[in-house]
Amino acid sequence: MLNVRNVTKEYEPGKKALKSFSMSIPAKGIFALIGRNGAGKTTLIRILATQMALTAGSADLNGLNVIKDADELREIIACVPQEGRAVGWLTPRQFVVSYLMWRGFTRKDATARFEKVLKELNINRYADTLNRLLSGGTKRKVLVGMVMSSEAKVLFLDEPTTGLDPISRHELWNTLMKLKKDHFIFLTTHYLEEAEVLADNIGIIEDGRLMALGTISDLRRKVKYPYSIKILSDKRFTKPKKGDIIKGVDGHYQIVTTEKEARRISRQLIDKKVRFSMNPLTLDDIFYYIVKKPIAEENYVNEEEHY
Ligand SMILES: Nc1ncnc2c1ncn2[C@@H]1O[C@H](COP(=O)(O)OP(=O)(O)O)[C@@H](O)[C@H]1O
Ligand SMILES: [Mg+2]
Repeated sequence: MLNVRNVTKEYEPGKKALKSFSMSIPAKGIFALIGRNGAGKTTLIRILATQMALTAGSADLNGLNVIKDADELREIIACVPQEGRAVGWLTPRQFVVSYLMWRGFTRKDATARFEKVLKELNINRYADTLNRLLSGGTKRKVLVGMVMSSEAKVLFLDEPTTGLDPISRHELWNTLMKLKKDHFIFLTTHYLEEAEVLADNIGIIEDGRLMALGTISDLRRKVKYPYSIKILSDKRFTKPKKGDIIKGVDGHYQIVTTEKEARRISRQLIDKKVRFSMNPLTLDDIFYYIVKKPIAEENYVNEEEHY
């Protein structure tokens, strides 16, 4: 189990990156922590991977405390930091073999492990090419290969797929799906879609707080209303009888509601020549719904006033 209890992290007085963050999850399969930039994902990963002290609270993984048992914990975990890059002037072979020797393997064992992993990742043809000459996706795979080849059964991957093209991303997904059979992978991402494909459990973090935790179906159930209407023009619109209104980052308004109500509202919008789109909720909508509170009432008017 991974237990996080009321973890708070204050980098500067009065500015908290984590605010009494708590969760308990089984330490197996893949856990995805989702949140936008600045939500606190990297802070939590660094604390759990024993790279940084917490300000208050406590956390343990398989019974080992991240502060008191940090040395012991480091034996079973490996981490790819968000800004992690394979050293440019080394080849993947030099880079990974030296990492493994630093973790205590002999050169012979390290080389054997390295070769096995590179084959698995299908990048063995790059074993002796300088890291700086590799594509972004291959570079990222070298780092994942590095932690895979260690004896660590717990892997922390901070945004492993950010910046990858769709093909490299899918290749990495395949690798992670294979890895999760005998590893616990804790990853962070911006994408609920990625979490849906990979994760057994998903946490949503916003402003240092845990907003939701569960499987993708648990998260879907958190959403009361399955239909979404996006108002594309800035006209005022009618308050729905049932549902919530969310203001999107792009300034558009979105009504989430029942299917029946969505049909009724869309007929009105057509009559009033307001541009809109209507869809079942996407995963992105669910994310927004969970992290954003429905908006204040100033931008819509009451039914009676309009009709
Ligand atoms: N070393 C640091 N010193 C001060 N503030 C920091 C530091 N690292 C992160 N922060 C702040 O903590 C918050 C959470 O950051 P971070 O954990 O990196 O979020 P995420 O990984 O979700 O983007 C942000 O407001 C960020 O500016
Ligand atoms: Mg981060």
